Amino acid sequence: MSADSATLTPAEQELIASATLADPAVQAQPHAFYRALRHGDPVHLDPTLNSWLVTRHEDILAVQADPLTFSVNKGYHTQQARGMQDEYQDILRRDGGGYFPDAIMSDPPYHTRIRKLMENAFTAHRVKDLEPRIQETVVDLLESVADKGAADAVKEIAVPLTIRVIVEQLGLDHGMEDKISRWSVAVTAQIGRMQNREQMVEAAREICDLQHYLIGKMRAREANPGEDMISDIVHAKIPMPDGTVETLTFDEAVSLVRAMLIAGNDTTATAISNLFFILATRPDVAQLLKDSVDDERKMTRFVEELLRLEPPVRALSRMTTREVELGGITLPEGAHLLLVYGSANDQEEVFPDPRSFDIDRPNIGRHVAFGGGVHRCVGLALARMEVKVMAREIARRMDNIKLAIAPEDVRFVPTVATRTIEKLPITFTRRSA
Ligand code: HEM
Repeated sequence: MSADSATLTPAEQELIASATLADPAVQAQPHAFYRALRHGDPVHLDPTLNSWLVTRHEDILAVQADPLTFSVNKGYHTQQARGMQDEYQDILRRDGGGYFPDAIMSDPPYHTRIRKLMENAFTAHRVKDLEPRIQETVVDLLESVADKGAADAVKEIAVPLTIRVIVEQLGLDHGMEDKISRWSVAVTAQIGRMQNREQMVEAAREICDLQHYLIGKMRAREANPGEDMISDIVHAKIPMPDGTVETLTFDEAVSLVRAMLIAGNDTTATAISNLFFILATRPDVAQLLKDSVDDERKMTRFVEELLRLEPPVRALSRMTTREVELGGITLPEGAHLLLVYGSANDQEEVFPDPRSFDIDRPNIGRHVAFGGGVHRCVGLALARMEVKVMAREIARRMDNIKLAIAPEDVRFVPTVATRTIEKLPITFTRRSA
């Protein structure tokens, strides 16, 4: 523990000594724990998780600036299905068409070429072209519940939107929302560090099913390319520095299609669920949204402040490849780290009065909800647009959004990786024109 611990209250000292991010109660209401850690032990070994929690903004930035010392590849792949990797990989090889390590969860220089390929899929220009179609989907979903005056904002609005968008982008079949939602949960559970063996086996079965489905689609696009992202990935040509052109191996391509399908679902759906939660519980923010709806600049800032205040991704993995100092602590080689993005976004020295919703913050763009450095979220333009269109259409169509349950009864998926609301029953009225 660092010297700062002298300024901690006894309750904060007790929190640091006894709380763990593995505890679902801490995951649901983490801010007091984060604050105590930032002030008292900013790079803290969580004994239950056997991970170092990196909680301060400046330390997270230092990690992001050095992707070779703080390896995503090791952090991600050694933690996948933690303690049960061999069995997990055997199930996928035996029943799932193969084990395909996640190509984007890698380190430079390999990561650089894979990343370039992914970036081409999500240029701001390409994403802008998607806006009218996304708007149509958002309107369709909101209209499907508008006259009922009640909905589960997670299951009836947020999740179906993000799945429909990515299904169209990849060129997959409609009507598979439930399956894709289950597959997303199964893949994300591998980095959540919370599953027991029975849950791992169940998740691995889902992932086998997912891989068979994707491999079938990819084989079809190999023969008959279309105007979709699977065709782009299957037929990708990567220019190399020496002037030659490389293609992806089939294993790499499977892992990238799987990443495209999964990475943006839970995250973007959670951002939209958080939007509903805030509108339902903070009338000042609901009013601010109404006042901002016709001002593009304010809407952009509204979305950023939402992502800062309630970042969907809580904490992601790295592993040290050498002994290194971080935040006054010497970490050995092979130390597992969790970058606690949720804490950095809440740091009072960087974002004064951090729990207030303030779209006029001068440094609004310094939040780390999308990570940073070479691994900064590749889908952020798409995510921001989905959230913005949703916010705009909610403001135009809905009034008096309220939670249909007590705020303390809102449940979160047990995982250290994200802060995902399980379900969010709301009531509302249709806004008169
Ligand atoms: C609000 C929604 C989203 C949030 C909060 C979010 C958050 C993040 C974060 C924090 C990272 C950094 C990972 C790290 O530090 O290890 C990341 C990376 C990534 N995201 Fe997102 N994401 C969102 C939406 C999306 C979407 C829509 C897609 C694609 C369809 C996507 C695809 C990816 C991929 C492929 C990476 C890995 C990038 C790399 O390592 O080079 N994300 N995201």
